[in-house]
Amino acid sequence: PPAPPLTLVIFGATGDLTRRLLMPTLINMTKAGMLGDDLHVLGVSIEPGGDEFLVKHLDTFLAANGMEQAQQSDAWQRLKTRISYISGDFTQGAIYQEISRRLQHASSANAAFYFAVQPRFFGDITSRLAEHGLLDETAGVFRRIAIEKPFGHDLASAQMLNATLLHSADESQVYRIDHFLGKETVQNIMTTRFANMMIEALWNNNYVDHVQITAAEFVDVGTRGKFYDATGALRDMVPNHLFQLLAMVAMEPPNSFDAESVRNEKGKVLKALRHYSQEEAAKNAVRGAYTAGPLDGKDLPAYTETKDVAPDSNTETYVALKLYVDTWRWAGVPFYLRTGKALRARDTEVVITFRQVPFAQFPRAPSRPDLPPNKLIIQVQPNEGLQMGISIKSPGLVLKTAPIELDFRYADHFDIGHQTGYESLLYELFLGDQTLFQRADSIEAGWAAVQPFIDLWAADGSKPDPYAPGSMGPACADELIGRDGRVWHQIGDD
Ligand code: BG6
Repeated sequence: PPAPPLTLVIFGATGDLTRRLLMPTLINMTKAGMLGDDLHVLGVSIEPGGDEFLVKHLDTFLAANGMEQAQQSDAWQRLKTRISYISGDFTQGAIYQEISRRLQHASSANAAFYFAVQPRFFGDITSRLAEHGLLDETAGVFRRIAIEKPFGHDLASAQMLNATLLHSADESQVYRIDHFLGKETVQNIMTTRFANMMIEALWNNNYVDHVQITAAEFVDVGTRGKFYDATGALRDMVPNHLFQLLAMVAMEPPNSFDAESVRNEKGKVLKALRHYSQEEAAKNAVRGAYTAGPLDGKDLPAYTETKDVAPDSNTETYVALKLYVDTWRWAGVPFYLRTGKALRARDTEVVITFRQVPFAQFPRAPSRPDLPPNKLIIQVQPNEGLQMGISIKSPGLVLKTAPIELDFRYADHFDIGHQTGYESLLYELFLGDQTLFQRADSIEAGWAAVQPFIDLWAADGSKPDPYAPGSMGPACADELIGRDGRVWHQIGDD
């Protein structure tokens, strides 16, 4: 069904997030019949202009940035007629009076406020919305706010942000976006587990040896030096995206797929992540920063030579962690996480390695002393799919085993390539389903688990280890997992 009537108020309507992501998403949603004709968009930004300003601005932007097809689509022509604009400063009261006036005259008083602005404004905008009565739902309307990471930069700042938001809004009104949850393959983790007895029955410490979660990126820091140098790979990817994957992998089956049941189970996992002492943190984490070298046919400067990065920066562009989920199901099973930039390939995946068979009657080939353990690979992106590594009898008179891979590719069966990944997130925001959004307690649990690493590196002043662009990461990451007699799954090997 199409989304209910509402006004989507976008703060930061002329920024990149709106132009590159939100508008193309709304166009896709219009095409797919996910939006009714009574969805209105009200853009807010500092740039001067009347009501028609935003449509003109977006029209020009889409046409000039390789999105001509979207710009010429019927969907955009339809959507355009319902976009209006207010120019003003969202740190001042006047704009909120104007928003209020517009909502009173809109066909429906329902509203979702999307903060496509710097995170430092999240608290302030929320307080001002509340002061002007814009978050008041008593008249039977809904008022929601949508924000996207970063939600703080450590545990204390995340707690403060949550306190500020929840002082003005109810948790049921806050939609914290983690864009990984908009990916089909991420949502599919729950289906893979809970719709398949043969998978879920083995999903515990009796059968699973260890779990690897990787978000390798081919791209380098590029023009994002200012943001990235203050953030680093750990904060940028781990407590949010990688922990969302981890929570989906490790959660108990919820009693239903409603928002609270799912979020309760995911929250339990994040709260069960072992909190390391500094000494333990030092043993279970490594980091790296890329050096200068060739990547993609170009000479990539070292991270520390990147624009807006301090030449003596201690910020990491790669991090690998060994974590434990202290629950009955996962006791003793290590979860190895890694993420980094300027690596060999773009490759986001979850690899479950099962235990060895207890007894191998098969003759051992000298080159492979044991049967390789079964593996399940959830390929999140690119080449979305699912692979299962099993052993079969190699045809012939002599009894020999051979490892083979059962290989499912989305692209062979479905068309999932033309989406931005925000369609389901915006749709659920409009419908009022919080399943795909993060709750305050989970955000804080995530930060609490990474805080020991943040403290460790802040205190010891050490530099990240070097790694070459286009490699699998620093040697210390191989040592981290190698100490346990294990190896990383190859990046870019699908
Ligand atoms: C963002 C990070 O949240 O996620 C980026 O800030 C990162 O640094 C991006 O590149 C990765 O997302 P995706 O969807 O490209 O895997």
